[in-house]
Amino acid sequence: MSDFGYNIRDARPEELDAIHQIELRSFPDPYPRGLLKAFFFIPGSIIVAESKNRIVGYAIGVIREDHLGHIVSIAVAENERRRGMGSALLKGIITKLSRMNAKKLVLEVRKSNYEAKSLYQKFGFEKKKEIRGYYQDGETAEVMELTL
Ligand SMILES: CC(C)(COP(=O)(O)OP(=O)(O)OC[C@H]1O[C@@H](n2cnc3c(N)ncnc32)[C@H](O)[C@@H]1OP(=O)(O)O)[C@@H](O)C(=O)NCCC(=O)NCCS
Repeated sequence: MSDFGYNIRDARPEELDAIHQIELRSFPDPYPRGLLKAFFFIPGSIIVAESKNRIVGYAIGVIREDHLGHIVSIAVAENERRRGMGSALLKGIITKLSRMNAKKLVLEVRKSNYEAKSLYQKFGFEKKKEIRGYYQDGETAEVMELTL
């Protein structure tokens, strides 16, 4: 338990709806519930932040190929942001992927997503390239990487 009263741990299948609700409220192009559900079949790929018995954030990370980890998503409920939970979730998923033998981590972030890019930079992620039109609405993605 952190000083701010939240706990980072593996997600449980019955928490899918809570995770999906945060996803819906956090992204203009949210992942469908079915896709989020599929990550529960990859053991240890979803972690959550729990505060006062509520799920208030989550992160998803998978090993994509040998030694390459992919941070798929990270989000914190809007009214719970700026309390360190995003950092704690990112740290948690980095630790997990590192234990699964990832040597490099990769993620995509909207070019306009200043908050998330700032978070990733704090953890040492560096922009490697841009993918134009990556998102449904045509926005460019920045691909960021961290060598572990
Ligand atoms: C990105 C996100 C997960 C950060 O969660 P959070 O709990 O607010 O993060 P933290 O409190 O740990 O903040 C860590 C750092 O993130 C950056 N950050 C977070 N919110 C910020 C804001 N509103 N403005 C500027 N920087 C911000 C800062 O660098 C901050 O460090 P600081 O507090 O020392 O300034 C959260 O804003 C979110 O859920 N956004 C919507 C979903 C999203 O865009 N996810 C990323 C997909 S690629």
